[in-house]
Amino acid sequence: MRQAIPLVSALFAATPALAAYNLVKEYSGTDFFQGWDYYGNFDNLTNGDVTWVDQNTAASSKLTYVNDAGHAIVKVDDTSFVPFNQKRNSIRVSTQDYFPVGSVVVFDATHVPFGCSVWPSFWMKGQDWPNGGEIDIFEGVNKMPTNQMALHTQSGCSLSSSAKQTGKVNETDCSSGTGCTVLESQPNSYGDDFNNNGGGVWAMQLETSGISIWFWSRKDVPDSVTSADKTIDPSSWGTPSAFFGSPSCDISKFFGPQQMVIDITLCGDWAGVPAWYQATCGGDGSQSACYVDNVINNGTAYSDAYFEISSIKAYSTDSSVLVASVSGGSIVLATATASPGSSSANSASGSVSGLLGVLAASTLAAFSWALL
Ligand SMILES: *[C@@H]1O[C@H](CO)[C@@H](O)[C@H](O)[C@H]1NC(C)=O
Ligand SMILES: *[C@@H]1O[C@H](CO)[C@@H](O)[C@H](O)[C@H]1NC(C)=O
Ligand SMILES: *[C@@H]1O[C@H](CO)[C@@H](O)[C@H](O)[C@H]1NC(C)=O
Repeated sequence: MRQAIPLVSALFAATPALAAYNLVKEYSGTDFFQGWDYYGNFDNLTNGDVTWVDQNTAASSKLTYVNDAGHAIVKVDDTSFVPFNQKRNSIRVSTQDYFPVGSVVVFDATHVPFGCSVWPSFWMKGQDWPNGGEIDIFEGVNKMPTNQMALHTQSGCSLSSSAKQTGKVNETDCSSGTGCTVLESQPNSYGDDFNNNGGGVWAMQLETSGISIWFWSRKDVPDSVTSADKTIDPSSWGTPSAFFGSPSCDISKFFGPQQMVIDITLCGDWAGVPAWYQATCGGDGSQSACYVDNVINNGTAYSDAYFEISSIKAYSTDSSVLVASVSGGSIVLATATASPGSSSANSASGSVSGLLGVLAASTLAAFSWALL
């Protein structure tokens, strides 16, 4: 039940909640890369052996582009010779828009990166990590056989052992180093198996009652997902692969509006840990095996280290929702209206910005929680 603060109650009164979620943003086609920020720095977050290049470098070296099929490619540089002690170029992009609690995000890919040293992810995070929470929808390392889903939060949120989900729980404490993790048990969720079966689709529902993640290999994607041009209704999807939520995690306390991130790093804090690396890629078990055996030299290890993404769509319970973007250290709120089939569905209208103005991040956190 929403208890909107007086300032915004008028906005929501004008847009009654619907049973289904309405499309508010679509990244697809030739405009796919509009609305993303490129990291433009070496990986100083997970200690991977990459430089996440800026937008110009990404374009000129074709590390991000739209292919002839109209799909977005996000890849590791697999053509440059990298001498010992240097890093390889890769990509980390994040959306300028933030999607609030009360959203569904659908990620449709025909190829995901994998291979020794490769650590890709499609994930979401709130402002001021880890305060706003983190949702890892697709993530894996090296030659792991399956996708791993996770949350990262401040302490106080955990995965319930009785959660209704088809995946296998590994870690239950969402504030631990690995986060709370669930391994996929549906077929073809990672690596060669995903890629050789036409890819697949992940859907993530972010609600106050919980965060659900579904996965379907291509042949199993339901019509209610493939035909969701304007609205989407998760009610027929059945038990999710992963469910994080009440009573063991208060989503409205640990999660604010989320931005999407697509990245690929190499080695680092997960893929490069000697025991993890050796488990599926062998090598001599040394600290440097991941780097020396893959990252340096001619890049032949990375022919499969790319995402090919058909589309990413975001839906929300209101046809007109708050979408936040960061500008000059502040979060700017604007409305987004659905415009199906267009990657620029987010047509910011001045009315809400005018009403709310520019809010400091801390104000937004209080503001978004007031809506829950
Ligand atoms: C990573 O590098 C960027 C760009 O230099 C910087 O703004 C950011 O604070 C750094 N983050 C960490 C965790 O060091
Ligand atoms: C599960 O968790 C344990 C302990 O945290 C860890 O050692 C193990 O590698 C994890 N397994 C997977 C498949 O994530
Ligand atoms: C690239 O490196 C691999 C492994 O070191 C080697 O087998 C291959 O011949 C190299 N290819 C080129 C074109 O240098």
